[in-house]
Order: sequence, then structure tokens, then C-alpha cells
Amino acid sequence: MRKIVLGTMIAAASLMAANFAPCAGCHGAAAEKAALGKSQIIKGWPVEKTVAALKGYKDGSYGGAMKCVMKGQVARLSDADIQDLATQISKF
Ligand code: HEC
Repeated sequence: MRKIVLGTMIAAASLMAANFAPCAGCHGAAAEKAALGKSQIIKGWPVEKTVAALKGYKDGSYGGAMKCVMKGQVARLSDADIQDLATQISKF
């Protein structure tokens, strides 16, 4: 099961620059879960709020006890990717 999920994520991620699939592993397919039981539920967050959080993880100015987990996730995202992901999350 895990292999299938990972394979799907990699396939999906290579099709689109900013795909939510890798995030879904922790946050849920529709961002409806508390990632690793710790994060806030980000489903439906306004675009600006998500952009601020993701940029904050990138530059270290935002986050809680588990912010290192997210720093790794956003390190390679461009501003355009962040905007794109935030737009997707706002629509869940
Ligand atoms: C390995 C699991 C994991 C993955 C994959 C992951 N996240 Fe997270 N995410 C977390 C955790 C844990 C937190 C809470 C971190 C903290 O303590 O600040 C979090 C927090 C967040 C927050 C802020 C919510 C809050 O609690 O303040 C946003 C927004 C977010 N993630 C978006 C994303 C996006 C977008 C992706 C994909 C690029 C992603 N995450 C991938 C685990 C993950």
C-alpha cells in the first residue's frame, strides 16, 4: 500500500510543479487532517494565510514544535509553487 501511494505521489509530482499530492500524505487528500496529529487543519485556509505560513516555514519565521518537518517540505518550492498550493488548499 505504502509503495503504491508513494509511486502515485511521485508520478503526480512530476506532472505538475506544485502538486498537493506529497502534502496529502500528512495533511490528508483534502487537507482535512491534522498532519502527524500536530498541525492545524489547513483545509479551506485563505490563500494569504497559507502563503504566509509556507513562506514563514521557508525562512524560519513561522511554525510550532514540528516546524522542521515543514521546512523540509517547502525548501524547494518557488513563490509561484507556494501561491499555487495555497490556492488549491483554499478550495478544499
Ligand atoms: C511529513 C508530513 C508533512 C508533509 C509531507 C507536509 N506537511 Fe505541512 N505540516 C506538517 C506538520 C507536522 C505541521 C505542523 C508544524 C509546526 O509545528 O509548525 C505542518 C504544518 C503546515 C501548515 C501550517 C499549519 C499550522 O499548523 O500552522 C501548512 C500551511 C502546511 N503544513 C502545508 C503543507 C503543504 C502545502 C505541504 C506540501 C508541500 C505540506 N504541508 C507537507 C506535516 C507535513
